[in-house]
Amino acid sequence: IQQDEDFRPNYHFTPEVNWMNDPNGMFYMNGTYHLFFQYYPDGNKWGPMHWGHATSKDMVVWEEQPIALKPDEKGYIFSGSAVVDKNNSSGFGDGKTPPVIAMFTYHDPEGEKAGRKDYQSQAIAYSLDEGKTWTKYKENPVIKNPGLKDFRDPKITWDEAHKQWLMVLSADDRTIFYTSQNLKDWQKASEFGMGLGAHNGVWECPDFFPMKVEGSNETKWVLIQSLNPGGYNGGSGTQYFVGDFDGKKFSVIKEMKDLPGDHSYWIDYGKDNYAGVTWSNIPESDGRKLFMGWMSNWLYAQEVPTETWRSAMTIARELKLKKDEKAGYRIFSSPVKELDKYFGEATGTKNTQAKAGQNIIENKDLDLAKARIGFSIDSLQDRTYEFSLNNPEGDTLRFGYDHTQKQFYVNRKKSGITDFGENFASPVSTAPRTSEADNLPVEIFLDKTSIEIFYDNGETVMTEIFFPTRPYKSFTAGKGEDFSIKNLKTSKFDIPENQ
Ligand code: FRU
Repeated sequence: IQQDEDFRPNYHFTPEVNWMNDPNGMFYMNGTYHLFFQYYPDGNKWGPMHWGHATSKDMVVWEEQPIALKPDEKGYIFSGSAVVDKNNSSGFGDGKTPPVIAMFTYHDPEGEKAGRKDYQSQAIAYSLDEGKTWTKYKENPVIKNPGLKDFRDPKITWDEAHKQWLMVLSADDRTIFYTSQNLKDWQKASEFGMGLGAHNGVWECPDFFPMKVEGSNETKWVLIQSLNPGGYNGGSGTQYFVGDFDGKKFSVIKEMKDLPGDHSYWIDYGKDNYAGVTWSNIPESDGRKLFMGWMSNWLYAQEVPTETWRSAMTIARELKLKKDEKAGYRIFSSPVKELDKYFGEATGTKNTQAKAGQNIIENKDLDLAKARIGFSIDSLQDRTYEFSLNNPEGDTLRFGYDHTQKQFYVNRKKSGITDFGENFASPVSTAPRTSEADNLPVEIFLDKTSIEIFYDNGETVMTEIFFPTRPYKSFTAGKGEDFSIKNLKTSKFDIPENQ
């Protein structure tokens, strides 16, 4: 049976020890990507929250840094964001290095215990050494609680169109928008989302930013809005909205005006991509929207079968906004190009026949514990295209596409250790296919205990974790008649020697 370290992924960020949840405060500065995260350094389950910290040159190889923010008499340090204040609008700068401003939620456990409603407020801290050390602002909180029980997860962005700092936070069933000129004084601008989209849970961890529609000069604003529970496949999930923003108010496109709860606008349909947000301060010359999520789900995150460390982040992804005649505005996700360097050249490209029960890839040809696999299925027929990962012990993770239902799925029922938490093994996760193309491109990232599947060039994504008793050794075609796989490309994760 595999142990903690056997379960630890190769190319996903995990904390060295103990508990992690949401990504926080992601910013880029002078060649370094910063990732902070909800962290409990004294245990393997959620506890008094700190901000852990890690840095990377490429969002692939991470180095864990000392804890950035610790709880104090005002409370635990909940989720939030960070921005680089280039023009020192906050006045925290020392004239040498631009200050980095982090905004987070104080969660006062005493207030919560006392049954009060106002125990979450927003606060800031600044760093004058590019995120290494932080000073909490002495006038905290900068936004007091207005009497709302769930009032958290501030995400700041610079709004160039309206020359203002813009902040969104989540409050139970809505997103609240604030604006500021100095990052210290915040004015409430508007509220969004009551009755719109998925609501079977608390809205958390929003993100809001403009995006160019690919191949056009049109700009739309996108609101990413996680919720828990109430995700598409239960528990934690992340939906998004597309619309326009006039500097104060966000209005969705007409297709989203009466968006029902069971809509098809989700960043990821798998059970394990939550609370994801984007990096701030990416240089204009780069221009990408870079995203990362927490690769777990509150349904079972605290019970997964690792003891010394708990939870990983997803791979970093680039988000694009595309407009399709039929599917309308859609966010596409793709693995960041920085991953290419580690996966090297794909080993050959071939067309092959997938025969039910037969291996398409065996471990001796490709280490399935750190693999990237791409292919496409041409001329889709009314049938199910199933794949599985298997070990000789009989553990099997099944996933695929049912073209009769136009539905993708991931089935973890027999994937290995599944008895640690409710709702891990079932129900089977599904995702509607929104593309109408006749061929289906598939790209898969495997890393010991996770699969990230990008269908239709990232129009639909499914991310799920699993815990096989022994490593999976083969990649197999599932059931039914043979079908052909075009352009099968495989490659293995490796750290280049010169690094
Ligand atoms: C989301 C969340 C946030 C909160 C944090 C606490 O997973 O519940 O809303 O700030 O986790 O750790």
